[in-house]
Amino acid sequence: MARESESGFPVEPVYGPGALGGWDPAGRLGEPGEYPFTRGVYPTMYTGRPWTMRQYAGFGTAAESNARYRQLIEHGTTGLSVAFDLPTQMGYDSDAPLAHGEVGRVGVAIDSAEDMRVLLGGIPLDRVSTSMTINAPAALLLLLYQLVAEEQGVSGARLTGTIQNDILKEYIARGTYIFPPVPSLRLVADIFKYCKAELPKWNTISISGYHMAEAGASPAQEIAFTLADGIEYVRTAVAAGMDIDDFAPRLSFFFVSRTTLLEEVAKFRAARRIWARVMREEFGARDPKSQMLRFHTQTAGVQLTAQQPEVNLVRVAVQGLAAVFGGTQSLHTNAFDEAIALPTDTSARLALRTQQVLAHETDVTATVDPFAGSYAVESLTDAVEEAAVDLMRRVEDLGGAVAAIERNFQKEEIERNAYRIARETDAGTRVVVGVNRFQLAEEAPYEPLRVDPDIEARQRDRLARLRAERDRSAVSAALSALRKAAESEPGTANVLYPMKDALAARATVGEVCDALREVWGAYKPVDAF
Ligand code: 3HC
Repeated sequence: MARESESGFPVEPVYGPGALGGWDPAGRLGEPGEYPFTRGVYPTMYTGRPWTMRQYAGFGTAAESNARYRQLIEHGTTGLSVAFDLPTQMGYDSDAPLAHGEVGRVGVAIDSAEDMRVLLGGIPLDRVSTSMTINAPAALLLLLYQLVAEEQGVSGARLTGTIQNDILKEYIARGTYIFPPVPSLRLVADIFKYCKAELPKWNTISISGYHMAEAGASPAQEIAFTLADGIEYVRTAVAAGMDIDDFAPRLSFFFVSRTTLLEEVAKFRAARRIWARVMREEFGARDPKSQMLRFHTQTAGVQLTAQQPEVNLVRVAVQGLAAVFGGTQSLHTNAFDEAIALPTDTSARLALRTQQVLAHETDVTATVDPFAGSYAVESLTDAVEEAAVDLMRRVEDLGGAVAAIERNFQKEEIERNAYRIARETDAGTRVVVGVNRFQLAEEAPYEPLRVDPDIEARQRDRLARLRAERDRSAVSAALSALRKAAESEPGTANVLYPMKDALAARATVGEVCDALREVWGAYKPVDAF
């Protein structure tokens, strides 16, 4: 009896030679590092260099987060990943009424260049690559990062890192949007152009499926809706006058890795092959770097349990292994206590140690794409690819990702799958160890990390001092210049240049975003019913 995969197709109890009958491995797979990159984006993959161990972290003040980053570097992390608090992500200052209660809670509070300088203190920006999970105000945090690098004497040409900058998935599944789609996509195109000119080694976007997966998307939905968003961004940049090979090499992606390891490996391999084909055949990309789907992975937060939290260590190890077998370039492994609260120092270290065991004690880095030619994994790869391509076609039939978003198509498809998962969990047909099977009569108490409640007051004081000490007229003039650029037609004035001047004059994140809200307005979600 065939089991149903997470993506909804049957998984055969046994796959044999017939599964790959008449199958041309060279054409379907290609060599590692060669089109269509099914087997991985680099010829040597981990035999040349292990994936980047990039632990997402950030809470409280810039000083507290800086301490956690330096501790992670000391424990061997090889890339930084900044989590910002919700006010920063939504473009509000820590003293804005809407910020009350959220300052420093789910990430670090960054209001100005002063805070960014503290956040990055003692970190060599010419040697560390930094990811910033920031979307609507991504341009601002990128420019603040560049301003601090300039103070360190590091030129933009040497900076490496990534901004998430994926506003479309915010409308679909995460919600930290500010402006409507049209000005938001103009801002994305301006960022692509600015990075091409000023920050050539910076990855301009991390097109994300993770949050859709966390909202309930199946593996096929996750890659289909993510790649459809990617196509929308590519069309936007081409319409803004950029050549595909001028910006596509710096696109990157971000996916989840679930405990269903085999289907996840198939998912990653299918995603690379679909993207390579779209970039070469639909957009005429000639540079192999334009055709490569390079991605970061985070283990599935939604699969962590608050019950018997130590069991999550096993789940994260399996999920991490799925990402590695799937050829990820960068990996975040969740801490076992994250279903309860922010990670403690101990749980954060254990999460990193999980990756270090995979990289240094197992033999998974000894050979590239070990599942190649597997009757089962190649069949699953083909099946996930087929399901994803069908969904991408449905998005295209609606007019593309933005048009589909405006009809709530992606959101409704994901919610339908989330409901299926919930129903199966409640019925016990989907086993969650410790939750609906193998429960304990009573759970041992767990002491989580608590964020200092007076962080908000301290951040307000910092803002008051900044506003008192800066040149008020310089800030006002810079914000006027920014508004003028934002009023111009897309593709004429690039808003990042006046934005950088404003931030350098110590305009705050909230003031810059308010100036843009005045010109572009704020996004109002489509009523879902
Ligand atoms: N052979 C040859 N070259 C190799 C190689 C190999 N085997 N392995 C690596 N390299 C080279 C690469 O070409 C690259 O050089 P280049 O930049 O000049 O091309 C360099 O070594 C670094 O390698 P990668 O680019 O593969 O690895 P990075 O770690 O630098 O970048 C990425 C990975 C996916 C491209 C990048 O976009 C990235 O780091 N993304 C991270 C995104 C992230 O962390 N997001 C967190 C989200 S958390 C969130 O959303 C919040 C919550 O809601 C979940």
